[in-house]
Amino acid sequence: MSFTRALLNSSRPSALRAAGLRFSSTARPVTLKERLAELIPAEIENVKATRAEHGKKAFGPVLVDQLYGGMRGLPALIWDGSVLDAEEGIRFRGKTIPDIQKALPKAPGGQEPLPEGLFWLLVTGEIPTQEQVAELSKDWAARAAIPEFVEEILDRCPPTLHPMSQFSLAVTALNHNSAFAKAYQEGISKKEYWGPTFEDSMDLIAKLPNIAGRIYRNVYGGGKLPAIDATKDYSWNLANLLGFGENPAFVELLRLYITIHSDHEGGNVSAHTGKLVGSALSDPFLAYGAALNGLAGPLHGLANQEVLVWLRKMQSKIGEEPTDEAVKEYIWSTLKGGQVVPGYGHAVLRKTDPRYTAQREFALKHLPEDKMFKLVGQIYNLVPDILLEAGKAKNPWPNVDAHSGALLTHYGLTQMQYYTVLFGVSRAFGVAAQLIWDRALGAPLERPKSYSTSAIQKIFKDKS
Ligand SMILES: CC(C)(COP(=O)(O)OP(=O)(O)OC[C@H]1O[C@@H](n2cnc3c(N)ncnc32)[C@H](O)[C@@H]1OP(=O)(O)O)[C@@H](O)C(=O)NCCC(=O)NCCS
Repeated sequence: MSFTRALLNSSRPSALRAAGLRFSSTARPVTLKERLAELIPAEIENVKATRAEHGKKAFGPVLVDQLYGGMRGLPALIWDGSVLDAEEGIRFRGKTIPDIQKALPKAPGGQEPLPEGLFWLLVTGEIPTQEQVAELSKDWAARAAIPEFVEEILDRCPPTLHPMSQFSLAVTALNHNSAFAKAYQEGISKKEYWGPTFEDSMDLIAKLPNIAGRIYRNVYGGGKLPAIDATKDYSWNLANLLGFGENPAFVELLRLYITIHSDHEGGNVSAHTGKLVGSALSDPFLAYGAALNGLAGPLHGLANQEVLVWLRKMQSKIGEEPTDEAVKEYIWSTLKGGQVVPGYGHAVLRKTDPRYTAQREFALKHLPEDKMFKLVGQIYNLVPDILLEAGKAKNPWPNVDAHSGALLTHYGLTQMQYYTVLFGVSRAFGVAAQLIWDRALGAPLERPKSYSTSAIQKIFKDKS
């Protein structure tokens, strides 16, 4: 955001009026929606100016390999919320994970950032005050209830249906009450799209704990779902719905977990799917339901489930405290069996994922003697050399999924098939922020061009 606070303050009343919001000169903290309404007009001008100056310039070559190779590295999308550097890892609005751990508001007595603050940062580019974050917690608690028919959909799912499929079903069904879909049917002007998209996005994030909690209790037991406590933060409520509200370390873990899993620039499968489906003006529930289906793939979010399955199999085969030699042999047997080592490698990163490092630091602080944590550390010392020797993976280092399951397991959340649901709750923060800005900036329908192999051959034959 490239404008001064003075300009902002002077434009506040008119910007708010344009967004259908009331300007208040009282001391109450500015809400996220009010702040957004202030930021949007200048950002629209910023994008216009960038396109006017650079719109017709080429932006890097496109290689034929990229057409066949899953578009790796192809510059094709804009998203200001987070940017991924191959060597350094993710930055959220320019801030690294250690930066946000320091700067974002914490819960009373807590040390990890509150995901509410991360969402505010993703949406506005600014660090919120403690008060603003508390208001967001309250707002989400007030929106948390899910319609009865969605509860029934979940209750009727067989427990054998994968939790991610249940999750995606429920999120898609929330579209029944979409403010955006309703406003669109009623003929809302393009300029106002972002308002109901914001409301849907807030509802989406707010309702995920009740969906995730219901799936967990339906599939794994644990009795009736407790009510949301409007005096507590989002992560505490989610932990409580899962049955871990009384464990402060687990609640802290969830705060860190949601924050670091929230966004990973725009091109990953879930973020891009959300944006792509949203570009058809499908509402945030439909767009995020689609994103969840992508997150459910083993090369993406399901990898955190796969890591734990792999670690458990390893332990049952070679024991809980195996020698390096036995672990090496197990890793090689995975590769020789034509499988990937889950939790290692990345399409963009070329170093250890800082999200892995943040979780390792959490483990060192809270569970240094845990056997599974020690095994995760032992594997870290062995896998990269083996992947390098095998010679295929471009990045032999661990990603976020190599660590998360070991932490959840430590606190008793041992149901690995459920892990990607927590990733899904978290990733909604990034996708929702992106959808709001796409509607605010009038992002068009996505429609890249596809080619046939014969067309590629002909183009280059004609050129030679
Ligand atoms: C994340 C991932 C999908 C990235 O894929 P990518 O961008 O195609 O990665 P690369 O360009 O390095 O792949 C080149 C080759 O190395 C292989 N490779 C990459 N990571 C590997 C791993 N962890 N174990 C074994 N082989 C791996 C690929 O399968 C590919 O093999 P192929 O040429 O036979 O198809 C890949 O590293 C992977 O499958 N990792 C394990 C799953 C995982 O942890 N996913 C979560 C990501 S956050």
